[in-house]
Amino acid sequence: MRIGTASSSLVLNRCFSIFAREPSLSTAVVRRSLAISTTRPTAFTSVRGKCWCSTTTTTTRPVVVADDKNYGDKQVISVTPALYNYILSNVREPQILRQLREETASMRGSQMQVSPDQAQLLAMLVQIMGAQRCIEVGVYTGYSSLAIALALSESGYLVACERDAKSLDVAKKYYELAGVVHKVDVRHGLAADTLKSLILNGEACSYDFAFVDAEKKMNQEYFEMLMQLVRTGGVIVIDNVLWHGKVADPMVNDTKTVSIRNFNQRLMEDDRVSISMVPIGDGMTICRKR
Ligand SMILES: C[S@@+](CC[C@H](N)C(=O)[O-])C[C@H]1O[C@@H](n2cnc3c(N)ncnc32)[C@H](O)[C@@H]1O
Repeated sequence: MRIGTASSSLVLNRCFSIFAREPSLSTAVVRRSLAISTTRPTAFTSVRGKCWCSTTTTTTRPVVVADDKNYGDKQVISVTPALYNYILSNVREPQILRQLREETASMRGSQMQVSPDQAQLLAMLVQIMGAQRCIEVGVYTGYSSLAIALALSESGYLVACERDAKSLDVAKKYYELAGVVHKVDVRHGLAADTLKSLILNGEACSYDFAFVDAEKKMNQEYFEMLMQLVRTGGVIVIDNVLWHGKVADPMVNDTKTVSIRNFNQRLMEDDRVSISMVPIGDGMTICRKR
């Protein structure tokens, strides 16, 4: 398999765009990724994976194959910018979500918003489950919560936890515009306090679905409280479980990366839930309470 200039530059572009979005990504990591990309773009995508970019045709076909031979030669798709644009062009994003995304784009922290394909998956899960009672931890300007609220039936209910009043103002404006304000119970304050108050209020085992997308170091604490609040068969989705790929790089050991890595490991060992780690956006793990 030949590695050509076109595919190398795609990989390089991806490295640069990751760096632009994530200033905390250490230059050492980026430099190593770049060096690997130009000569052998194999180690860039994951620790266990290889990325082979075919240039024998005009189409780039980047795939990942596990290093462990016991997985055979199973090829898994690796998303390039072109492929990601294609995925986005296949998302049915409601007009109101698009408007919110475009308004948020110029705001500080806009990179925190879930991607349209992630929001669509969250909405799909809510619909598949017929969820009625939901919780979101980390609202920001409301993109994911609005996607969830739109997917809920008229009698559906979403507790939306956020500590930042300014971004909540944007979210509330869009709940109004979208006609879902009656479904959303906005809780301004620390999410842990809100979750504790729901438990104290006797709401244990009464929620169907929860989405966690706030302070990453708090994931385990949020998860434990949500395990109390969600019914058996209910679902808890955690965002950013791949943390820009840093969880799979043994050279990266900053506090946030280590806490996400530890959280992922604990989920792996937690037989109270069935789990599925999905490489969408920055990675989401879907947990179903047994
Ligand atoms: C990644 S953003 C959420 C993005 C949102 N899900 C979306 O798709 O637009 C994380 C949000 O969590 C909020 N947050 C962080 N720590 C929090 C806490 N302890 N309690 C409540 N909100 C918190 C931040 O203010 C921020 O708006």
